Amino acid sequence: MHEHIVKIKNVSKVFVTKSGSLELFTNVNIEFAPSTSYALIGESGVGKSTLLHIASGLEKPSSGEVYFGKQNFWGLKTSRQSLLRLNETAIIFQQYNLIPCLNVKENIEFQARINRKYNRKYIKEIIEDLRLTRLLEEWPESLSGGEQQRVAIARALAAKPKILFADEPTGSLDEKNSELVLEMLLNINKKYNTSLVVITHSLSIASKLEQCMELKSRKVLDR
Ligand SMILES: Nc1ncnc2c1ncn2[C@@H]1O[C@H](COP(=O)(O)OP(=O)(O)OP(=O)(O)O)[C@@H](O)[C@H]1O
Ligand SMILES: [Mg+2]
Repeated sequence: MHEHIVKIKNVSKVFVTKSGSLELFTNVNIEFAPSTSYALIGESGVGKSTLLHIASGLEKPSSGEVYFGKQNFWGLKTSRQSLLRLNETAIIFQQYNLIPCLNVKENIEFQARINRKYNRKYIKEIIEDLRLTRLLEEWPESLSGGEQQRVAIARALAAKPKILFADEPTGSLDEKNSELVLEMLLNINKKYNTSLVVITHSLSIASKLEQCMELKSRKVLDR
């Protein structure tokens, strides 16, 4: 048994663009333990989304390693990487990333069907909790921002990941819906021992998670 689900070790990220190179963070070390909830805060543009994409195995760091358990993610075959992403992680993207040619119901069931964690009763519960029942046959493009966000949350929860990454999951929700969504995420965290990593600008949300980290001056600090 490892003490972490995901560990990032000495991770740095530099983007090289036409206007020069942009160093986002340098030698960052984080261990995401099982069943634990984390907040990641920091100013806009500091690199939070990029760090989340690296921790979830979607983006390669410029240097350093990402471990899923004891497996060095970027040393694995791409087929193995895909399986780990599919089975162990789920992401609620800042830009939702719903699949445009699938309706709401199909979007919600998508990852759960391919990773074989599809459970009709459980998914029905999520759909009801997120008040999406009325929208199941709709196309993503016909939904409001807040509705798309709730669908993206339902899709991530339905997949029952070991670790759930959420990039400003309440960014386009009103106060009442934000509270509902945070409550659901914390509920999943406790009920299924899912680790939870939430990027947020809200200190009140951050205070409800067990650990708070801040990305600042290219480093991640505990707060
Ligand atoms: N693929 C890329 N190529 C070049 N630069 C990029 C790329 N992706 C992100 N950046 C830059 O890296 C910086 C950090 O972006 P990122 O999206 O990680 O910030 P963030 O902390 O999530 O910001 P926000 O709070 O506004 O969402 C930004 O200046 C962005 O323009
Ligand atoms: Mg971001």
